[in-house]
Amino acid sequence: MALVIKTPCLSPSLLACTPFHIREGMAGAESIGAPLIHIDVMDGKFVKNESFGVDFVKDVHNKHNMLNDTHIMIEKPWEKIDDFIKAGSNIITFHLEACPSEKEVRETIKKIHDGGAYAGISIKPHTSTNAILPYINDVDLILVMCVEPGWGGQKFIPETYERIADVKAMIKASGSKALLQVDGGINDITGPASIKAGADILVTGTYLFGDETPEIRAAKILNK
Ligand code: DX5
Ligand code: ZN
Repeated sequence: MALVIKTPCLSPSLLACTPFHIREGMAGAESIGAPLIHIDVMDGKFVKNESFGVDFVKDVHNKHNMLNDTHIMIEKPWEKIDDFIKAGSNIITFHLEACPSEKEVRETIKKIHDGGAYAGISIKPHTSTNAILPYINDVDLILVMCVEPGWGGQKFIPETYERIADVKAMIKASGSKALLQVDGGINDITGPASIKAGADILVTGTYLFGDETPEIRAAKILNK
């Protein structure tokens, strides 16, 4: 079943919250009516940093009312899907670049769907948008990274707007029900511009949990 949520919407990223502020971050995300909460998993191999893992997902998955939007920046994603499903991930987005061939991409998508979760596929800023075409009708979400994955607080790469428009056109042309997610450097300028280019779900951490309240910042990102 396709992922159906009201769009455009936000997926607040807990990566921007220090451990002491995770609860506050979840409460902030709920207070702005976000349908998803974004959990970045990093293994220190596919990306340099390490961040949340399976245990974190398990710990927080039932402490809020949002879908657990798990972005796994890890090597060999197909080997870890069952663990994330058991931990309570509702959406699992893996990286195309982490799969050596089409076989592993298909295996990863199948494992996610067999486990009853929504499958997302992500591409890094230098991966051709055409690379997602073979899977466009098989996934529920396509994540176009707006920064190099690996850490929060980076600057949005302006070439991404064209990539968002490209992927949106491909989704439309193929009849795919996939939603288009963007992640990295989303703020009051890049958020509205990404929506204009075709983004459905905007991941936001540093800006959303910045100086003003999440309510004020969410409205600015969504241009309300
Ligand atoms: C980066 C992560 C992002 C990150 C976005 O690799 O995938 O989800 O949290 O954070 P900001 O909004 O700080 O760029
Ligand atoms: Zn992310």
